[in-house]
Parts: sequence; structure tokens; C-alpha cells
Amino acid sequence: MVAEIRSLPQDTKRRLSSAQVAVTADNVVKELVENSGTTSSTQFRIDVVVRNAGLDFLSVRDNGSGVSVVDAPEMMKQHTTSKLRSYEDLAHVQSYGFRGEALHSIADISGAVTVTTRTRNEMAARVYKFDRVGKIVSEGTISMSEGTFIKVEKLFSNVAVRREIAATAKAVAKMEKRIRELVTA
Ligand SMILES: Nc1ncnc2c1ncn2[C@@H]1O[C@H](COP(=O)(O)OP(=O)(O)OP(=O)(O)O)[C@@H](O)[C@H]1O
Ligand SMILES: [Mg+2]
Repeated sequence: MVAEIRSLPQDTKRRLSSAQVAVTADNVVKELVENSGTTSSTQFRIDVVVRNAGLDFLSVRDNGSGVSVVDAPEMMKQHTTSKLRSYEDLAHVQSYGFRGEALHSIADISGAVTVTTRTRNEMAARVYKFDRVGKIVSEGTISMSEGTFIKVEKLFSNVAVRREIAATAKAVAKMEKRIRELVTA
């Protein structure tokens, strides 16, 4: 008898679970804006830019506390978060839904993710380019004021069906509405 139930290839499994977190372009923007929203700043400011329904380019820039040099290599990995330290902590923050996998999932389903970030004590910002598994592939120094600027290119380039959905008029309208809600909240 031929077995009907088979395990999916590892990379398919990974991408399936990533596509659950980053379901649509508006969802990706939401995750990035939420991250920005949890970083502190007295006069909080956030800028969102989307091009071609977010499929070619989307970016979220905040003037928050930035990501330090030691934290940057960790931020895009799976199950990394600054919001909890242990299983016990999980009970406290579960209601906020922290999973520590939003950025990892976004990296997985896009062509390239670039993070430019500067903390208060630094003289310049650092720019990191990440690959699909969330590893830094290049880094450098650039001039930018305090905060974080995350740029996502070629969203869903490896998940064709999601790309098609994201390009529909309905999805675009939903994203515009979501962005308005997020930035005016
Ligand atoms: N705009 C930002 N400013 C400062 N730190 C950030 C920013 N975006 C991400 N980070 C850091 O990267 C970590 C990983 O972000 P990610 O969204 O993947 O996980 P999370 O927010 O902890 O949990 P969730 O998966 O529920 O969103 C965050 O915990 C935070 O430390
Ligand atoms: Mg997050």
C-alpha cells in the first residue's frame, strides 16, 4: 500500500508557517507599526510608505529607541523577542500576542529586508540587510537620526498566490484603511 500522508519538505513547512503570520500586505504593515509602537519616544512619529500595494516596496520609520548593535543580529531570527525571557513571562504577555516571529516571517516571504537603526548613544545609524532566514548578509554605517527604519522589498515574491491576492483592489483598499487606522490610533 502506498502511504497517502507525507511530510512536506522543510522549506515548504517553514514558508507555510511564515505565511500564517504575514498573511497580507496590510498585515505586514501592521506588524511593523506595532513594533514601532512599543518603542519609546516622547514625541512619537511614524511614517509608512507603500509602493504597488506594498508588493514592490513598503517601509515603516519610527523615531523610537532603535536597536542596539548586540540586538540587531537577533531581531530577525525565529522566536527572538525583547518582550519575554521565559515561559513564565509568556503567561503575563500572552494577552498582547507576542510571538517573537513577525520579523522572521516577513523576512521569509519577501525578497529583502533592510533595517536602518540608531540608538540614542550612537553617533551614526547602522544599516543591516537580512536574508530569508533572518541572517545579516551585509552591514554598514549611514547617517540617520535616532529610531528605526525597516524596508521590505518584493513582498510575497516566493508565495505567488499571496502576491496575487495582495494585488487585488479589495486588498489594496483594506491596506489603505488599515494604515490610516494604525497611524492615527
Ligand atoms: N521599530 C523597532 N524599534 C525597536 N526595536 C524593534 C523594532 N522592531 C523590532 N524590534 C525588535 O525586534 C524584536 C523582534 O520583533 P518581532 O516583531 O519579530 O517580535 P515581537 O514584536 O517581539 O513579537 P511578535 O512576533 O508578536 O511581533 C522585538 O522584540 C524588538 O526587540
Ligand atoms: Mg512584533
